[in-house]
Amino acid sequence: MTTLVIGGAGYIGSHVVRLLLERGEQVVVVDDLSTGYAERVTGADLVPLDVTAPDAVDKLAFHLTSSGADSVIHFAAHKQVGESVAKPEMYWHDNIGGLAHVLAACAQAGVRDVVFSSSAAVYGVPDVDLVTEELAPQPINPYGATKYVGEWMLADAERAHDMRTVALRYFNVAGAGWPELADTQVMNLVPIILDALEQGRVPTVFGDDYDTPDGTCIRDYVHVLDLAHAHIAALDYLRGEDRPHRVFNVGTGEGSSVLEVIDAVARVKGIDITPEIGPRRAGDPARLICSGDRIAQHLGWKSEHGLDDIVRSAVEARADRRG
Ligand code: UFG
Repeated sequence: MTTLVIGGAGYIGSHVVRLLLERGEQVVVVDDLSTGYAERVTGADLVPLDVTAPDAVDKLAFHLTSSGADSVIHFAAHKQVGESVAKPEMYWHDNIGGLAHVLAACAQAGVRDVVFSSSAAVYGVPDVDLVTEELAPQPINPYGATKYVGEWMLADAERAHDMRTVALRYFNVAGAGWPELADTQVMNLVPIILDALEQGRVPTVFGDDYDTPDGTCIRDYVHVLDLAHAHIAALDYLRGEDRPHRVFNVGTGEGSSVLEVIDAVARVKGIDITPEIGPRRAGDPARLICSGDRIAQHLGWKSEHGLDDIVRSAVEARADRRG
């Protein structure tokens, strides 16, 4: 089996590449190295290529055909909510345009199986305790909208071609499976807390007046290694016969508040942290917790790591980088 992993030099993609190689599968990585690092890719060929470039379809089709790829996992996309609000054109062009090229190349090369990185951002601000895939998506920012449009494109590609697709809606991804594959960007809560502490600052909580037990927002934090295993499970599902669903949530089913995440960091590092309480951040739902029933039932996947594992792995990866 050969899989072309687009965005395989990125944080999540490189974890999936590592697991595929460990299973003895062939992997070719395509990455424009705009946010990924070549050093994250060991044991697989790395093709530097921007999937949004005008000639990307032919180039991708060439690499798919010459490598004998039978599946594609597509990670490469922008993923910053705030940036997407400021620069929607960039998100339409790169996230939607990039996926259009990838699907066209798959059709051209006769590749059947495609796994796509979607996001819980498609749900917007859901007013439910547990988010199931049956909930109608209502994205509230261009980032979430590009992911939802991406899911429609997969469905269209399936109808037009001999293709099978899965979209994985990631909840809040954090941690590191291997220190050298850790997230080096400081965009999300766990790296933001660790960065602040490293710089001698305290983290800021964006609002403590939400309708939650401690007043701070609750999210479903999933370990990147668990998430990577979900991609392997998705590939196996596409290769099998029984395939009733194309969209799956990936989370733990457990919610943690911002204060609980800060407590976990304090616990793991053995220090006291008294955060600053700041104002609410626009567009934050009070609670976003995944129902993992569908993925457990059909992909046989369940997360194995809890919040302390996530934080510990992120702390260790940082120490490794510094030291
Ligand atoms: N937060 C703080 N202080 C900070 C940073 C974050 O209190 O300095 C809070 C946020 O308000 C939120 C929680 O921590 O309540 C998590 O925030 P993140 O920015 O880490 O993550 P989001 O939940 O906003 O979004 C993340 C990804 C999205 C994805 C979404 C899916 O960034 O791409 O998870 O659940 F869509």
